[in-house]
Amino acid sequence: MATSTRRRLMAGNWKMNKTNADLSAFFEAFCREAGLSKSSAASSSEIEILFAAPFTLLSKTNELAAPFGIHTAAQNIHFEENGAFTGETSTTMLKDVGIHWTLVGHSERRQYFAESDETVAKKITKCLSSGITPIACLGETRAERESGTTESVVERQLLAILNAASTQVEKIVIAYEPVWAIGTGLAATSAQAQDVHRFIRAIVAKKSGEKIASEIRILYGGSANAANIAELLSQPDIDGALVGGASLKPAEFAQMVIKGRR
Ligand code: PGA
Repeated sequence: MATSTRRRLMAGNWKMNKTNADLSAFFEAFCREAGLSKSSAASSSEIEILFAAPFTLLSKTNELAAPFGIHTAAQNIHFEENGAFTGETSTTMLKDVGIHWTLVGHSERRQYFAESDETVAKKITKCLSSGITPIACLGETRAERESGTTESVVERQLLAILNAASTQVEKIVIAYEPVWAIGTGLAATSAQAQDVHRFIRAIVAKKSGEKIASEIRILYGGSANAANIAELLSQPDIDGALVGGASLKPAEFAQMVIKGRR
């Protein structure tokens, strides 16, 4: 399937790291190293850049990043509009601070905070009805890969997401993140990643048609770094990356952006 129409996306996921005091120096170094300037923001069309920041950092991240054309995302949202949900944040609250993107269903949310396919689905639906772009995460555990169930697990997670997105599948971004590769330093090989990305795109094609499948972006996540990003991006169905550890380091993440430019 042609890759030319899909704009690459390099997304950092800071997880539970950084404070507001870190941000000015981070963006100064990152933008300098990546060769980004405020005047070139609108034309930095070769690649889209995003940081998924903790809630306490969203406003300042957006303030510093937006002038360079960089998006800011939340890492999670609640699917209800408001009410007695202590500790949760709604999509309206995100928009209130100027944020229009969020991660949904990251494996750490699924693993440590008991998010099920059903919860993830409700969050996808809520994002799309609120004008928030979800980066929908999925991926198999080590045990699932070793028992040969990678495809069935990925298909189950993906169908929950696609069904929830309904007629707006073209508005989501998918992130394939094999759980065994996250934070372990053991990235999937580009061939392993491409196999699953191709599989995901084929399911999207079956469910939502060839046009949407050829346009939807599928990011790879799991120990992506400046050393392996070029090889990962050389695969026809890999359209960018969701980057944890390496996105905390401005110079390394800038290198990843540079290598991702077409
Ligand atoms: P990692 O995390 O790059 O540190 O493996 C990726 C992610 O969890 O999004």
